[in-house]
Amino acid sequence: MNTTVIQLDNVTVRFRIPHEKIPTFQEYAIRWLKRRSISYTDFNALNNISFSIKQGETVGIIGANGAGKSTLLKVIARVIRPMQGRVFLKGRVAPLLELGAGFDYEMTGRENIFLNGAVLGFSRRDMANRLERIVEFAGIEEFMDAPIRTYSSGMVARLGFAIATDVQPDVLIIDEILSVGDTDFQKKSAARILHYHKNGSTILVVSHNPDSIRNLCSRAMWLAQGSIKMAGPVDVIMDQYSQDSMS
Ligand SMILES: Nc1ncnc2c1ncn2[C@@H]1O[C@H](COP(=O)(O)OP(=O)(O)OP(=O)(O)O)[C@@H](O)[C@H]1O
Ligand SMILES: [Mg+2]
Repeated sequence: MNTTVIQLDNVTVRFRIPHEKIPTFQEYAIRWLKRRSISYTDFNALNNISFSIKQGETVGIIGANGAGKSTLLKVIARVIRPMQGRVFLKGRVAPLLELGAGFDYEMTGRENIFLNGAVLGFSRRDMANRLERIVEFAGIEEFMDAPIRTYSSGMVARLGFAIATDVQPDVLIIDEILSVGDTDFQKKSAARILHYHKNGSTILVVSHNPDSIRNLCSRAMWLAQGSIKMAGPVDVIMDQYSQDSMS
């Protein structure tokens, strides 16, 4: 149980933000003709982040809007590449990124189960066997043949969670989405997460709900402006974080 499953060494993620708004194509063309370039600022969403997580740990990531939490999860799930540094991840990862990520909104719930399965590396036959279980866990049988764009946020979250967690992953990554589920689903999903935790999965959760973080995690990492501000036992970090938000 002492193996490192996630390790980041000096990870930096940089985004390019257009400096000025170009309102129309015509204006863009004029600028181009005048050889005036469009300027950008480079902005580090993550700054030289290093940490490691051992197998079976449950780690909560907290911080203000825009602090870099989702970017951190995406870099771990290999959805984005860091400009600098190294990301190491061992085993099969089930990423539940921002709401609806990985879904095609024009396709039905049923079609999206197959689409997601393919992305997660499962065969069509595999997914056909799992379909019933996934639909049952999501609890949205009557909507399976409607396009996802007609779903409520909670229904999207239910389906996403049911697909990603149908089989126990080595690493489960959850960005917020649980908070849009109703009480019933929150209980059900927390029970499944705890069950996988007991069976050795490593779990990473981003949430703005302090209770979810305290209940699910043993460690917490506080991100502020792309850097780790504090990391340690969940209660210590959450106490500091709530004091900081009040002041
Ligand atoms: N694709 C992108 N292009 C440019 N900037 C981006 C991109 N994705 C994220 N950012 C910027 O990176 C910063 C961190 O964003 P991120 O989504 O990681 O924040 P967060 O901590 O998840 O916030 P929230 O609590 O609102 O979900 C923000 O300033 C955001 O504007
Ligand atoms: Mg986010």
